[in-house]
Amino acid sequence: MGFARPLGLLVPQFVIFTLLATIFSVVNISILAPVMEILFGSSSQSDCDCGEAVTEVVAEMPPLDFSIRYFVDLFYYYLNTYKVEEGVIATLYFVCSVLITSVFLANIFRYLSTLILERVRINVIENLRNKAFFAITHFDLGYFTEKRKGDIMSRVSSDVLEVETSVVSSLKVLFKEPFLIIGFFTAMFFTSPKLTLYSMILIPLSGGIISYIAKRLKRRARLTQDTLGRISNVIEESLSGMRIIKAFSAKKYITEKFRGEISNYSRHNYRMASRFNLASPISEFLGVFVVCLIILIGGSMVLNKDSSLTGSDFIVFLAFFSQVLTPAKAISNSLTTINRGLASGERIFELMDSQTKINEKPGARAIDSFNEAIRFENVSFGYEDKLVLKNINLEIPKGKVIALVGPSGGGKSTLVDLIPRFYDPKSGVITIDGADLRDCTISGVRGLMGIVTQESILFNDTIFNNIAFGKPNATLEEVKAAARVAHADIFIEQFDEGYETLIGERGTKLSGGQRQRLSIARAVLKNPPVLILDEATSALDSESEKYVQDAIENIMQNRTAIIIAHRLSTIQNADKIVVIKDGEIIQEGTHSTLMKSGGLYKKLIEMQSF
Ligand SMILES: Nc1ncnc2c1ncn2[C@@H]1O[C@H](COP(=O)(O)OP(=O)(O)O)[C@@H](O)[C@H]1O
Ligand SMILES: [Mg+2]
Repeated sequence: MGFARPLGLLVPQFVIFTLLATIFSVVNISILAPVMEILFGSSSQSDCDCGEAVTEVVAEMPPLDFSIRYFVDLFYYYLNTYKVEEGVIATLYFVCSVLITSVFLANIFRYLSTLILERVRINVIENLRNKAFFAITHFDLGYFTEKRKGDIMSRVSSDVLEVETSVVSSLKVLFKEPFLIIGFFTAMFFTSPKLTLYSMILIPLSGGIISYIAKRLKRRARLTQDTLGRISNVIEESLSGMRIIKAFSAKKYITEKFRGEISNYSRHNYRMASRFNLASPISEFLGVFVVCLIILIGGSMVLNKDSSLTGSDFIVFLAFFSQVLTPAKAISNSLTTINRGLASGERIFELMDSQTKINEKPGARAIDSFNEAIRFENVSFGYEDKLVLKNINLEIPKGKVIALVGPSGGGKSTLVDLIPRFYDPKSGVITIDGADLRDCTISGVRGLMGIVTQESILFNDTIFNNIAFGKPNATLEEVKAAARVAHADIFIEQFDEGYETLIGERGTKLSGGQRQRLSIARAVLKNPPVLILDEATSALDSESEKYVQDAIENIMQNRTAIIIAHRLSTIQNADKIVVIKDGEIIQEGTHSTLMKSGGLYKKLIEMQSF
C-alpha cells in the first residue's frame, strides 16, 4: 500500500462506487420475485392461499424518505398501479425497464470502481519499478558480477509483473468482494434467515479447504521465478555472444544449455500448474455440493409448506446464494495470485534491501580538488578469497603520467578500479592528498576522475547525449570542442544529423574506433584532474589507433594520468612505468632505466618489437 501513493480521494471514491454497484446488483436479483409473481401468481388467482401472493400491495404513494424501504415501497406502488390500471403485460414491461435501468447502473458503477483499482495498480507498479531501478544504480560494481545480471533482470521485470497482477487481487479481496458478500448476505437474510444461517456455516467450510490449497503454492511459485532468472541469463549471454557462438559453431553447446534450463523450468512449472489449477475444479465442485445441500434444506422447507419460505422466495434466495459464491470464489482464487505476488514482492524487496559494501561514512569529507598525489600504501585486494593485488605501494603525483604494464591477468585493471573506489582494499589504504579514500565522499572522489576503458560503453541515444553524459548541462559548443580534442569531430560531422545522430543500442551504428573516440570525448568534456585509461586503444585497428592515440596525447597534457597499455610503444614517454605481475609490482622506473636494468619489461619490449 505504501507504493500505491498518492491515493488521495481514490479510496473514498472507490468505496462509494463499489457500494452503489453492490446495491444495484442486489436490486437486479430482487426483481426476480415480482417477475415470478406476475407469471405464476396471476394465473392461480385469489382462491389459493398457498403463499404465492407475496406481492406487497402498496396502495398509496409512500412519503419521501431515503431508506431502502422507501424505494422498495415506491417500486411496489408503481407495480400495483400498473397492474390495476393497465394489466399484467404492461406490468411486465415496467418490471423489465426497472431491471434494465438497474443493470445499467450496476455496471456503470462497477466500471468506475474498476477504473480506480487500475489507477492504484498502475501507481504501485510505477513506484515499484522506479524504486527498484534506483536501488540497482546504487549497488557496487562488485554486486553485478557476484549476483547474476539475469537474476536482477527477472526481478525487475517478471517479478514486478507478478506483483502487478496480485495488487489488483489484493485490493479486490480487501475492498470489493467483501462488500458484495455482505450485500448479498444481507439480502439473503431478509429472504430467509434460517437458510442464511445454514449457508454461513457451509461457505466458510468449503472456502477454508480452498485457501489451504492456495497456501501450499507459495513455495513453488518462488522456485519458478528463480529458474526463470537463469533462463534469461542464458538468453542474454547468447545474444551478446552470438558472433562467437557462430564462429565457434557452438550452437549445440548453447542450445543444450538452454534446453537444460528450460526443461528444468518446465518441470517446476508443470508441478506448480498442476496445483494451481486444482483450485478451480475443487472450488466449483464444493460450490455445487454446497448448493445441493441448500436445495435439499430449502426445498424441504417449501415442500413441507414451512410458512417462513415460499417457492418464489426460495428461487430468489438461490439466486442470491449463487451470487455470493462468485465473490467467495474470487477471494479464493485471489489468494493464490496474492501468494505468488508476495513471493515476487519478497524477491524485489530483497533486491532493494541488498547491502552495499562501498558506503559513505557519515560526515565524509567533500573533496573537490586534487593537488598533490594519490598513494597506495600496502594495498592488498581480492575479489574473493584469493588475493589479486599484494602489498602494492605506489605514488601517483599530480601532473605525471604513470603507465602500468605486465602480463594479462596480473591485476592492472583491478588496481585502477580501486582508485575511483569501485572496490575497497582488503588491507592497506589508498590516499588522495593524504586523505583516505574511504573518508571522502564517493561523488567527490569520482568527480575527480575520468575513465576510458577497453570496451566503450555507449547508450542508445544521440551522439550529443553520449558525450554530455557526465556533464548534464553541457552546451553544444563544449561538446564540439571535446569531440575535436578526441578526433571525433570529423566523423560526427559526416552524419546527416551530426550530433543529433542516434547511435543505436550500445553504439552499434559506429565502428570500434569511432565508439572509442566518443568515450574519450566524454572523458575530455568532464575535464577531470585524473584520467584513467585502461587499454583504451587495444581493441582498435592501427589506423583508428593512431587517431585515438593522438586524441589521448591531446588530453594528457597537464593532467595526471594512469594508463594501462597493451602496446608498449605508446607509453615509452610516461614519467613512470610500473610492471605488474601476479598482483605484485616487480619493476618501476622510466623506459630508459628499465631497459638498462633488464628484466620483464625489457623482455616484453623485445617480444613486441620482434
Ligand atoms: N570481477 C571479478 N571477479 C573475480 N575475479 C576477477 C574479477 N575481475 C578480475 N578478476 C581476476 O583478477 C585477476 C586480475 O585481473 P585484471 O585486474 O583484470 O588483470 P589485468 O587487467 O592485468 O589483465 C585475474 O586473475 C582475474 O581472473
Ligand atoms: Mg585489464
